[in-house]
Amino acid sequence: MKDNNFILKEFLDNAFNVKSHLMEYLAINECDLEGFLANAKMNLANLHPGDALSDVSDFYTEIVGDRHLADLAAWHITSKDYIADTLKLQQRFSRDLVLDFGGGIGTHALANAMSSKVEHVFFVDINETNRNFVEYRAKELGVEKKLTFCRTVKDAQISKFDTIICLDVLEHLADPASQIEVFYEIMDYDSIALFNWYFYKGEKNEYPFHIDDEHVVERFFKTLQSNFLEVFHPILITTRAYKKIK
Ligand SMILES: C[S@@+](CC[C@H](N)C(=O)[O-])C[C@H]1O[C@@H](n2cnc3c(N)ncnc32)[C@H](O)[C@@H]1O
Repeated sequence: MKDNNFILKEFLDNAFNVKSHLMEYLAINECDLEGFLANAKMNLANLHPGDALSDVSDFYTEIVGDRHLADLAAWHITSKDYIADTLKLQQRFSRDLVLDFGGGIGTHALANAMSSKVEHVFFVDINETNRNFVEYRAKELGVEKKLTFCRTVKDAQISKFDTIICLDVLEHLADPASQIEVFYEIMDYDSIALFNWYFYKGEKNEYPFHIDDEHVVERFFKTLQSNFLEVFHPILITTRAYKKIK
C-alpha cells in the first residue's frame, strides 16, 4: 500500500501512467496518441446525435466506444491540479467498501485501491470499454485484487457501501434524482458520498450530452436537499461530501 502523498505525486507526475496504458491498450504509437488526445473533446461532442437520441445511456453504451477514454484522459492530464484536489478529497473520506459510480478511466478508483484505508473498490460504469481499460490498468498497477468491475450498482451485490464516489456523472444521467435515491438506499448513516454536477451544455454546446432540463435539475436538488446533509470539507472545489439523513 502507498501513502497519500505518494499517490498524489504519482498522479501529478503521470496520471498513473495513463498515456502508456492508452498506447498499449489501443495499440497506437505516441504520435497517434497525441492526436487522439488533442482532438478528444471536440470529437466526443461531434459524436452526439442531439435530440435524435431517445435514450441518454445509449450514448455511452452504443456510440462513444473508445473515444470517451481519450476525452477523459485528455481532461485528467490538462486539469491535473483540479483532479488532484478531488483525489485529496477522497483521501479524507474514503474507507472500507467503496463504490465508484461512472468511474471513467479509473483515476479515482485506482487511487482508492492504492489506499490502506480502503478494503475494496467496486468500479461501476455503463461503458464496457471503460471497464475493460480500467481492469487492464489495475493489473498494470498491481491493484487488481482490490477492484471489481460491474455494469450496474446491482451487479456489485453489496447492500451497504461506506463510501460512494460519483464525480462528473450526474449530469450524464436521464434522471439524476433517481440515482441519488439509489445511493441513499445503499449507504449507512456513517457512510459518505462525494457528488458533483454540471447541468450545463456549455456556451458553445461543448457538452451536448449534459442534462440541463429545468424540471429534472429541480427534482435533483429537492431530492438531494431532503435526503442528504452536507459534511464540511476545506478543499476549494465544487465537489461536496454528504451523509444521509433519516
Ligand atoms: C464524465 S465521465 C466521469 C468519469 C469519472 N468519474 C471522472 O471523474 O473522471 C462520466 C462517466 O459516467 C459513465 N456513465 C454514464 N451513464 C452511466 C450510467 N447510467 N451508469 C454508470 N455509468 C455511467 C460514463 O460511461 C463515463 O465513464
